[in-house]
Amino acid sequence: MSFDRLWADLAPVGRSADSGGYHRYTWAGADTDARAWFTEAAAARGLEVRTDRNGNLWAWWGTPGPGAVATGSHLDSVPDGGAFDGPLGVASALAAVDELRSRGFTPARPLVLGVFVEEEGGRFGVPCLGSRLTTGEIDPARARGLTDAAGATWERAMEQAGLDPDRIGPDPELLGWLDVFVELHVEQGRALEDTDHPVGVASAIWPHGRWRMDFTGRADHAGTTRVQDRNDPMLPFAHTILAARALAEKHDARATVAKSLITPNGTNAIPSLVSAWLDARAADEATLASVVEGVCEAAERAARDHGVTHTMAAESTTPLVEFSHDLRDRLAAIVGTRAAESAGPVPVLPTGAGHDAGVLSAHVPTAMLYVRNPTGVSHSPQEWARPEDSHAGVLALADVLQDLLAV
Ligand code: GLV
Ligand code: MN
Ligand code: MN
Ligand code: MN
Repeated sequence: MSFDRLWADLAPVGRSADSGGYHRYTWAGADTDARAWFTEAAAARGLEVRTDRNGNLWAWWGTPGPGAVATGSHLDSVPDGGAFDGPLGVASALAAVDELRSRGFTPARPLVLGVFVEEEGGRFGVPCLGSRLTTGEIDPARARGLTDAAGATWERAMEQAGLDPDRIGPDPELLGWLDVFVELHVEQGRALEDTDHPVGVASAIWPHGRWRMDFTGRADHAGTTRVQDRNDPMLPFAHTILAARALAEKHDARATVAKSLITPNGTNAIPSLVSAWLDARAADEATLASVVEGVCEAAERAARDHGVTHTMAAESTTPLVEFSHDLRDRLAAIVGTRAAESAGPVPVLPTGAGHDAGVLSAHVPTAMLYVRNPTGVSHSPQEWARPEDSHAGVLALADVLQDLLAV
């Protein structure tokens, strides 16, 4: 299957020799190389590749225009991310085109393969930025001003990539051309591994978001300042991490503090500032709000106790997504035709992971396929899909696209 060749070419792009993880950040080195790989692979298949006003790539089989069936995913990664989150959906889309052609199938309408920029928010902080811009879910002025760790703006980075940041924003014409979007993605949990199904279907995405917290204290000497005289922002920061964990447990939700910046970050200087990011997710909006409010209250209290000030602001939020029931049932039926009879119905699963499919679903009928991940681990080098399951994913995607493209 052509998937193996595609994967062999893509997998080394941006892979760390030390950890085996990936560092693909939007508009930079390995991400640019991965985009070039896609452009080349699509062009080699006779697809017309276009870059939209927001930097997302679209490879057309057939004339670009209305009535299109769309599939695709993203190529950027989290810091030291896995090989499959994003790239599996992109490589599978290309392989599905090959599979459909090998079947002698001629689409009755256009098929377009999309590659979205900054899905992980790994460089500029807002996840699904490419799809948010195209759907009008984020103010272009805000997007232009987003900065990376080195202080470079989205505007500047885009310019350096040869694109015009003045043109970013909603693209109703392009969006209007898409009749349906299907994203294939590696599973980011371990639900399928305990079944005989290599491929499942998405039901919903939990509401989730990212909040920035700043704890401002007073820098001082680590050796000479009595502990009772300190305004040490590390202490409320530590309390807040533990509170987030307790609240997540209490509400059967998720709350993670995985990124922080300590200023000035010296061993022998009490910090003046700790900036930290809360990633919170829950099955419903009310529970998510309880968790986030609880974290905020705990942070305020701990900050007060230590003579530190605390601010908290949302950087991005994503509402609950329920994928189209008609479409997910249709996908489950199609995927089920290849499942072993003893395997039972195709699993239809909710997830706590965000996707461009979730953003698009408010504008276009959207569905997702998941490919089994035997480790259940994601956003880590341990993320995995067996080759035979990736092949099953390609066949499932080709079957689904064939069905959607036939009329
Ligand atoms: C992106 O993959 C996310 O869910 O954080
Ligand atoms: Mn991800
Ligand atoms: Mn992803
Ligand atoms: Mn994601």
